Amino acid sequence: MKAVVAAQVRSVVVVGAGLMGRGIAQVAAAAGYRVALVDVSREALDQGLAVIRANLDKGVRLGKMTAADMHAALDGITPATELQACCADADLAIETVTEDLDCKREVFRRLDELCPPRAVLATNTSAKSITEIGAFTNRADRVVGMHFFNPAHLMRLVEIVVGLETAADTCTVAEAVARRMGKDTVRIRDFPGFVASRINAVIGNEALHMLMEGVASAEDIDKAVRLGLNHPMGPFELGDLLGWDTKLKVLEYLHETLGERFRPSPLMVQYVKAGRLGRKAGRGILDPGDGPSPE
Ligand SMILES: NC(=O)c1ccc[n+]([C@@H]2O[C@H](COP(=O)([O-])OP(=O)(O)OC[C@H]3O[C@@H](n4cnc5c(N)ncnc54)[C@H](O)[C@@H]3O)[C@@H](O)[C@H]2O)c1
Repeated sequence: MKAVVAAQVRSVVVVGAGLMGRGIAQVAAAAGYRVALVDVSREALDQGLAVIRANLDKGVRLGKMTAADMHAALDGITPATELQACCADADLAIETVTEDLDCKREVFRRLDELCPPRAVLATNTSAKSITEIGAFTNRADRVVGMHFFNPAHLMRLVEIVVGLETAADTCTVAEAVARRMGKDTVRIRDFPGFVASRINAVIGNEALHMLMEGVASAEDIDKAVRLGLNHPMGPFELGDLLGWDTKLKVLEYLHETLGERFRPSPLMVQYVKAGRLGRKAGRGILDPGDGPSPE
């Protein structure tokens, strides 16, 4: 069975309405797709829809879209707590559930069962193997990675990750849909960390090594990277924003799968053990702050 062709994609199911799913549902609806947003948690769905409404409203206030387009996008999103209710006419499903392989296995098993055979099944996993996820289904040739970045409604890149069995026409569908959502794409072979996360992991780790060696202060390392390399943020500002525990997990995974050169800096491990995880904990590396923030 061949995958649906890109021009025929009308109906997109986004599974998971968390941080990533809501952003992906927003850009899909704004691109004119009919979107079903599915989450096991009613609360996550309500919160997701409220965030989408606020983001689109801001878009109207900034003159990026008309009020009519905003209403059309909102009308195009149907929330659901059951996959069964919305997969029958799906052309594409994008899975954005919790980063847990057992959870993803169950979702892909159900999607494979419920979606039409020609539908493409995509995963937004940050690190899991697309090849392994494809093997949870009977259509590994129609399973592909669509790795969006956070916040998904603003970040321009989608990494299209190609599993061992992923067919070329499946990648073409994923790329065309991403472009219609206003994104740019790169095509990547399934390998730990893909491209952007792997490079970013090395930069963050090296910055911690430099801090530990006393090469410069965290502020000056950030300034050097911003002004000398033209990055919009230095590695410490970015780590404080994303969370050092998350960065450490990525490094540990890369260390385990790709070897010694990804061994996490002992100083990063120490900051995580101290609970200085970044903004979400009210204390990071750059600005220790006064304790947990009320957010
Ligand atoms: N947060 C990021 O910066 C980021 C960036 C790129 C990719 N990702 C990846 O995207 C995925 C989602 O991450 P997130 O940050 O949005 O997580 P999140 O925890 O904010 O959201 C996950 C959602 O999935 C829902 N869920 C769990 N099991 C489900 C099921 N069986 N069916 C339907 N919904 C279910 C949860 O209720 C939750 O609302 C993960 O694979 C993650 O690695 C995250």
